[in-house]
Amino acid sequence: MKPMLNVALPKGRLGEKVYAMFEKAGFECPSIKENNRKLIFENETVGVRYFWVKPSDVAIYVERGAADIGVAGKDILLEYEPDIYELLDLDIGKCRMAVAAKEDFRDDPQNTLRVATKFSNIAQNYYASKGREIDIIHLNGSIEIAPILGLSDVIVDIVETGTTLKENNLKVFETIVPISARLIANKASYKFKSASIDAIVDSIRCQMESKDD
Ligand code: PRP
Repeated sequence: MKPMLNVALPKGRLGEKVYAMFEKAGFECPSIKENNRKLIFENETVGVRYFWVKPSDVAIYVERGAADIGVAGKDILLEYEPDIYELLDLDIGKCRMAVAAKEDFRDDPQNTLRVATKFSNIAQNYYASKGREIDIIHLNGSIEIAPILGLSDVIVDIVETGTTLKENNLKVFETIVPISARLIANKASYKFKSASIDAIVDSIRCQMESKDD
């Protein structure tokens, strides 16, 4: 019997795309498609056990070894800097981390810049690299409201289609980093289950390359 590989998938639309990639790569688990509220699904024949977790929690499961591998956005990896291996860029869930503000915003270097964000670490690192003094206002969502109500000068947030910014009369001033979904592995698991992890990574990579042809 193969050793079971525990795989943390991000719940939601991205997770469904990710599962489809694993399925095509030969690691199917048909019970996952049953319409129910179950969170754990396994297929002993191919040796995988999938579980759905909040996208921002995937890295925690993997870092602590509750999952051997998982899929997390590069935004989460940059924000929390988990001690894991990043094995593959899956080229899905693509967006960018950006600085946005009201269209008439002009930066005054004399003043401390007030930055509202859910990604405090990314924002700190970005402005530290520019030597710009900032005041972080940590929010948990609907970040776009902050500059409109005068809570902040700018926001650091994810921009995908740009619709949210546009509909709130905000615009991108700087792009910090492109984001996409990454396949990550627990460090100890990668040592002890390298054969099964490599089999999945190689198979997904192969499938991605054949799509490019
Ligand atoms: C993210 C982000 C923006 C939006 C960007 O929010 O914070 O609000 O998506 O997407 P767009 O450029 O395609 O409009 P999310 O839906 O993750 O919810 P949040 O309010 O919890 O951040």
